[in-house]
Amino acid sequence: MPKIFVTRKIPEAGIKKLKSAGYEVEVNPADKVLAKDELVSVLKTGKYDAVLALLTDKLDADVFQAAKGSVKIFANMAVGFDNVDVEASKKAGIMVSNTPGVLTDTVAEHTFALMLAIAHRVAEADRFTRAGKYHGWEPMMLLGSDLSYKTIGILGLGRIGSRVAYHAVKGFNAKAVYYDVNRNEEFEKEFSAEFCRTPEEVLKKADFVSIHVPLLPATHHLINAEKLKMMKPTAYLINTSRGPVIDEKALAEALQNKIIKGAAIDVFENEPAIEPALLKLDNIILTPHIASATEATRDKMAELAAENIISALSGKEPPNLVR
Ligand code: DGY
Repeated sequence: MPKIFVTRKIPEAGIKKLKSAGYEVEVNPADKVLAKDELVSVLKTGKYDAVLALLTDKLDADVFQAAKGSVKIFANMAVGFDNVDVEASKKAGIMVSNTPGVLTDTVAEHTFALMLAIAHRVAEADRFTRAGKYHGWEPMMLLGSDLSYKTIGILGLGRIGSRVAYHAVKGFNAKAVYYDVNRNEEFEKEFSAEFCRTPEEVLKKADFVSIHVPLLPATHHLINAEKLKMMKPTAYLINTSRGPVIDEKALAEALQNKIIKGAAIDVFENEPAIEPALLKLDNIILTPHIASATEATRDKMAELAAENIISALSGKEPPNLVR
């Protein structure tokens, strides 16, 4: 009977799917991220045919070497796979898959939760109210900014970026400007969106900049001190992609010096660590990498990771093979 190792407790829906395919499933009994040495020694037992892994597992050459000969696939339960050395997986002859599509709406919703919360000062107002500072309606109290009819700048027009643009244009009558390595003229026509030839052009034009790029060498610190200075002083920066896309120290300085108006981020440069200066600021909202964290979506992600394993172990190409 094929044996699957799951690196950490995941939604039962995924486990159920694996079990009903006739597999034996072993879940890391300690509900914590395994250190690399621990994962390597689990894999060296040679007991496992597949691994269901998470974005907190660093899957590098050592891990693939340890898995070689037994493991056929590492199914990453995330759309992002910057935790995986894909070249090393190929050298070891091991497949890798991800979970695109099933989390698009949820991440787009969380992007709006952040965008609206920072513009309408929701978290700050909540702290204010709980602190007993509300003594009656005031014409000048906690004034924020509107999203309606503003310009939203999308960096990375993949599934999530286009969903965010869709909501902004259709729901808030916003104008969308975007940068992506691939121009999408159909999208431009449908949403009266404007393609920008560089990310800098987006930064200069947008009132809200929302980041949806994968983490690659080319996108590391895509937003740094110099780029933050290109944004409008009234603009907001939202990030639900990957933390290292923003230079966190530069962001803290820009927020302290009012170079931009605010930011709302779900991901951090050195997770789970957070640049301490950010924690002291009122003009930023921080959420702990939960953009895809709804019960239904996490179920779907676990199920899709399981489906990729089932295909791979049945000798078929997994639907979400990472190449
Ligand atoms: C992903 O899937 O890459 C998200 O960051 C977590 O859901």
